[in-house]
Amino acid sequence: MAALTDIQQRDVKYQLHPYTNAVKHKSIGPRIIDRGEGIYVYDDQGNKYLEAMAGLWSVAVGFGEPRLVEAATRQMQKLPFYHTFTHKSHGPSIALAEKLIGYTQGLMANAFFTNSGSEANDTVVKMVWYYNNALGRKEKKKIIARQKGYHGVTVASGSLTGLPANHRDFDLPLPRIKHTSCPHYYHGAKPGETEEDFATRMANELEALILQEGPETVAAFIGEPVMGAGGVIVPPKTYWEKIQAVCRKYDMLVIADEVITGFGRLGTLFGSERFHIEPDIMVLSKQITSSYQPLSAVLINQKVASVITSHSGELGTFGHGYTASGHPVAAAVALENLNIIEERNLVQNAAQSGAVLQEALRAMADHPLIGEVRGVGLIAAVELVSDKAARSPFDPVGKAAGAVYEKAHEHGLIVRAIGDSVAFCPPLIITPEQVRDAVSRFGRALDDVTRQLQA
Ligand SMILES: Cc1ncc(COP(=O)(O)O)c(C=O)c1O
Repeated sequence: MAALTDIQQRDVKYQLHPYTNAVKHKSIGPRIIDRGEGIYVYDDQGNKYLEAMAGLWSVAVGFGEPRLVEAATRQMQKLPFYHTFTHKSHGPSIALAEKLIGYTQGLMANAFFTNSGSEANDTVVKMVWYYNNALGRKEKKKIIARQKGYHGVTVASGSLTGLPANHRDFDLPLPRIKHTSCPHYYHGAKPGETEEDFATRMANELEALILQEGPETVAAFIGEPVMGAGGVIVPPKTYWEKIQAVCRKYDMLVIADEVITGFGRLGTLFGSERFHIEPDIMVLSKQITSSYQPLSAVLINQKVASVITSHSGELGTFGHGYTASGHPVAAAVALENLNIIEERNLVQNAAQSGAVLQEALRAMADHPLIGEVRGVGLIAAVELVSDKAARSPFDPVGKAAGAVYEKAHEHGLIVRAIGDSVAFCPPLIITPEQVRDAVSRFGRALDDVTRQLQA
């Protein structure tokens, strides 16, 4: 193993990294990404990578977009910071709230700004509790999320997340957060069960959980239209229709966590549009600024907004908010980023390049290591299996996908390993030709790993 460079040594010495094995990190050090341009990033050794994960599912317009730099600079010069507490406001946050609400075509009424997906979902939990207290429903507080769902890492949002690594030894989840099954047809369906039947069973399971907990105690259901960090899991046909019907039956709020699926990822402006979800609350982040600035938003419909508004009047304040809620620089960057998404038809591009991605990956489905290819638009995953017929995982889980992730760097490609799956979520600007290039690099990495496993 090569000795760590000076900058790697400083990283290892001073920084504790998120989602990293800190012991292993001390010996292998970080790969240092130095700059980015379009769909590519470059490390400090001069290596170029096609960033097929858009960073963290987030850089819609690509790296190095000068218009976002200029928008930030202009706003920094004019008003680098101001808050939105206590009846103060500023142009960028107002314009952004108006634009986001406009995008929902009347479905949503108000936007509340936060700084990360986690904070947004934390805010959602508090809003759901506040809403039910305002309605005098002191018991109606439980929120149902899903196994493998990802909603962040704060105490409340980490509780909503349904992944063991986010709970283990963090003393989570909180008692009022419950989890229902992950709607993954490939693994979850019974022999002969159609997607529609599987979706019905998932909805029945949700209803059974509500009845077991007591409907008077269950306030809301939260889900990502397509699960992202849990492995890019696309719901079975009719799933969202059936889940929403159960929620409405028990007077529960429906929360769509669109942190990844918002702003074109699935080839529609929102994932809710693609899956016919009519949420009461929508959570947005990541592609809202292409992650050039930290920003997230919670959109609430009129039903929720009216209750929260009048309750804040009774209590004297809505006692929640962040110093940087609606930060003017982040909001200015978001507005320019959304303008670019509109002007360059990036939602449509996601549909077109996404169709190429889905087709090119599905064309590899006969590969002996590939169990399932799944995805919608410009998000996809290839699940690797140790036994194709039995759909069995590797031992240990992630052995092959982790190796593909590592090897892909040698082929100039950044993907993500999630368990046994390899995920793709490139910038929305990617062209069909660049998609084919990404898939071919992946194919070469997969072949290398196949040979390694056979050796
Ligand atoms: C659907 C979803 N919700 C919430 C989050 C948390 O966002 P953040 O990492 O900005 O806190 C993520 C992050 O990947 C996400 O994918």
